[in-house]
Amino acid sequence: MEISIKNICCIGAGYVGGPTMAIIAERCPHIQVEVVDINEERIRDWNQEDFEKLPIYEPGLAEIVKKCRGKNLHFSNLVKEKIEEADMVFISVNTPTKKKGLGAGKASDLKWVEACARQVAKYSKEHTIVVEKSTLPVRTAEVIKSILNETKGTLVDTNIKKTFDVLSNPEFLSEGSAVKDLLQPDRVLIGGESKDAIQALNEIYLNWVPSEKILTTNVWSSELAKLTANAFLAQRISSINSISALCEETGADVREVARAIGSDSRIGEKFLNSGPGFGGSCFKKDILNLVYLSEHFGLPEVANLWNSVVTLNTWHQKRLATLITKKLFGTLSNKIIVILGFAFKANTNDTRESAAIKICKDLLDEGAILKIHDPKVSAMQIEKELNLSPYKSNESGKENFKEGSWNKIEDMKNIFNNADAVVILTEWEQYKNMNWIEISNKMRRPSWAFDVRSIVDPKEIINSGINFWRIGDGSQN
Ligand code: UDX
Ligand code: UDX
Repeated sequence: MEISIKNICCIGAGYVGGPTMAIIAERCPHIQVEVVDINEERIRDWNQEDFEKLPIYEPGLAEIVKKCRGKNLHFSNLVKEKIEEADMVFISVNTPTKKKGLGAGKASDLKWVEACARQVAKYSKEHTIVVEKSTLPVRTAEVIKSILNETKGTLVDTNIKKTFDVLSNPEFLSEGSAVKDLLQPDRVLIGGESKDAIQALNEIYLNWVPSEKILTTNVWSSELAKLTANAFLAQRISSINSISALCEETGADVREVARAIGSDSRIGEKFLNSGPGFGGSCFKKDILNLVYLSEHFGLPEVANLWNSVVTLNTWHQKRLATLITKKLFGTLSNKIIVILGFAFKANTNDTRESAAIKICKDLLDEGAILKIHDPKVSAMQIEKELNLSPYKSNESGKENFKEGSWNKIEDMKNIFNNADAVVILTEWEQYKNMNWIEISNKMRRPSWAFDVRSIVDPKEIINSGINFWRIGDGSQN
C-alpha cells in the first residue's frame, strides 16, 4: 500500500530537528511541516521577527526559514494537536548521557524518547510512521515499538484502528555546515522493516537526494551505523592528537605527518587536523554508548578500545592547559590570558563538550584572568558552561577582576591590553589574519601566543616579538 505523507510533525526543535525540518519544508512544498517543542522560549526564538536571532546559527539556515516559515514550516508548543494531525512523526529530542542509575556516565538517557513515544501512542490517529532522528543506542526502536504496540489496534474516533511503523533515520549533519550536509548528503540511511514505511520516507528524500545515495538497512544496522560513524571520526581525532604530542617531543610536525598519511587514499586527508580535542554533543556520548553496549554484551576488549578514544581526548585537553601554565613560568596567578573562541568548532554557537570549557576551567584554577572572545557564543552561555559569573566593571567603568575570574570581551581592539598570552581555541575565520604587530604592542612582555588550531602564519607572530607555540610543532622545542 502506498503511503503519501502530507503532514509531518517533528518533536524537538533543536540543532537536529530545526535545520532538518527547514530543509524538508523547503524541498517539499506539498508537505506541511510542524516542529513542536516543550520549551516555550525556544519556540518563541524560532518565531522571531528578526531572522538573525533564530535559536540556532547555521550558515544559510535563516534564509530557508524565512522562505518557508508561516507557509509550510511552523514552530509551536502544540505537541498534542500536531501529533494528532501528522502521518509521520520525527523524534528529535536530546538523549544526554545518564547521570545516575543503571549505565550512569555511559548509557544514553532515553526518558525524553520514551515520553515522546508515549505521546505519539496517545494522540496519534490512524496510521503513523515514527522516525527516530535522535542518535540512539542500538535497539531503541524496540523500546519505541513496544510502547506503541500497547495502543496498536485501539479504535480512534473515526472507528479506524491506530497502527504504527518505526523507522531509524539517523542524522549525519555536522554543525556549522548543517544546511550543506542536509542538501548534499553523502548518504541518507533508512532502517526499518515495513517496505511501505521505508518507501514513504524515501519519497520525501527523493525530492532532492539522488536515489543511489539513499541506503536502506535493517533497524539495528542503521542505529549501530550512526554510533560507529561518530566513533570512527572521533577516533581519527584522538589518533592525530596523540601524534601531535609525539611530534612536539621528537621534532616532527603534525601537519606534515597528517599530509603524508592523508595522501594515502586508504586513509584519506579529511579529519586529520590536530586541535584542542573533539567536542560537540555527539562524539563523546556516542562512544560512551558503544562502550556501554560492548560491556553489556560481554565484550570488554571492544569496550576498552573505544573507551581509550575518550580517555585520550580528556588527557589531551588537560595536557594543553598544563603546557600553557608551564610556558608562563609555572604560574598563571593574576596573568591575563585572551581566549579566542569558545564554540566547539567554527561556524556554530554550540558549546556542548567544547574543549574550551575544560581548558578554561583548568586555567582559571591556576589563577588566570581570562578575557574570552567568540563571535557567536553569548556571555550567558559561557557563564553556564564555566559555572562561574563573569567579573564586573566598577562604577567608573574600570574592569574589576581578581585571580581566577573571566569576562567576555566583544571589542577586539582592547582585548589584548596588558595580556600575557593569547590562546586560539576555535578556528573562526576572523582570527586567521590579525595584525600581530599591533597585538604585540598591546601585550605585556614576555608575551605568548598558543595556536591550538594551526590557523595563523607562525612567521607573522614570531616577527612581532611574541613567543609562539603551536600544536604538534616539534621544531619549537
Ligand atoms: C540531537 C539529537 O537528537 C541527539 O540525539 C543527538 O545526540 C544530539 O543532537 P539536538 O537537536 O542537538 O539533539 O538537541 P537539542 O538542541 O537539545 O534539542 C532537543 C529539543 O528537544 C530541545 O529543544 C527540547 O526542549 C526538546 N524536547 C525534549 C521536547 O520537545 N520534548 C521532550 O520531551 C524533550
Ligand atoms: C559530528 C559528525 O561529524 C556528524 O556526522 C554527526 O552527525 C554529529 O557529530 P559535529 O559534532 O557537528 O558533527 O562536528 P564535527 O565537525 O564532526 O567536529 C567534531 C569535533 O571534532 C569538533 O570539536 C572539531 O573541532 C573536532 N575536529 C574535527 C578536529 O579537532 N579535527 C578535525 O580534523 C575535525
